[in-house]
Amino acid sequence: MVDKSKALLEVQNIKVSYGAVQALKGVTLGVKEGEIVTLLGANGAGKSTLLKAIMQMVPLQEGDVLYLKESLTRTKTNQIVKKGIALVPEGRGILASMTVLENLELGAFHRSDWRSELDHIFELFPILKERIKQSAGTLSGGEQQMLAIGRALLSKPRLLLLDEPSLGLAPKIIQNIFQLIQRIRNEGISILLIEQNAHMALKVADRCYCLETGQVVISGSADELAHSEELKKAYLGG
Ligand SMILES: Nc1ncnc2c1ncn2[C@@H]1O[C@H](COP(=O)(O)OP(=O)(O)OP(=O)(O)O)[C@@H](O)[C@H]1O
Ligand SMILES: [Mg+2]
Repeated sequence: MVDKSKALLEVQNIKVSYGAVQALKGVTLGVKEGEIVTLLGANGAGKSTLLKAIMQMVPLQEGDVLYLKESLTRTKTNQIVKKGIALVPEGRGILASMTVLENLELGAFHRSDWRSELDHIFELFPILKERIKQSAGTLSGGEQQMLAIGRALLSKPRLLLLDEPSLGLAPKIIQNIFQLIQRIRNEGISILLIEQNAHMALKVADRCYCLETGQVVISGSADELAHSEELKKAYLGG
């Protein structure tokens, strides 16, 4: 049973710098069990850095990241995946010269039972089954995004971090991706979704945070924020 009051992820006042550039200036946010939470923000706001910080792919200067009340700051990225968080990175991270199946297998590096899960992935993304022996570089952008999501799901996450899954895709494919995001949530997986497509993101999300130059400037329920004048001006084109 999904318990919507249960805190799954708690990001507490985190600060991250790249040399002189402070990308995150003290960010606090959370995802509860069963939620889709969207993180909006302009280019360079720090969105991808936040996901990397959750996965401990960049060092935290300050603050903490808790998953099920346990700090992740001393946990290696592959251990975090084993605990139940999967990242679909910016740019998808597909290995072009490897086949679709080989790419999927990478997502299940710590599981011996992953083949039994493949049927479920192919049910979600039938096109991947058709393309299974093809090298991933020959897939269309939308198919590559599905492969990236399928690969992340093979690690059996409880929390999925999606970094701009709709970027560069045609409107019809974007709709498809958003439907899949809702379906994945309905299967009990919580989602933190980075998007530049604020309209679509607010339709599927329960809650929303807006990041501006490394700080949360607006947060609230997606329904409320879809009608907020402040958010409309900044992210919804007036
Ligand atoms: N590896 C890096 N080295 C130096 N600076 C970086 C590095 N990665 C990101 N930055 C800087 O940190 C800030 C936040 O970058 P980040 O990629 O997190 O933003 P973003 O919100 O994901 O942007 P986008 O919408 O373009 O993907 C930016 O000013 C960026 O230039
Ligand atoms: Mg980014």
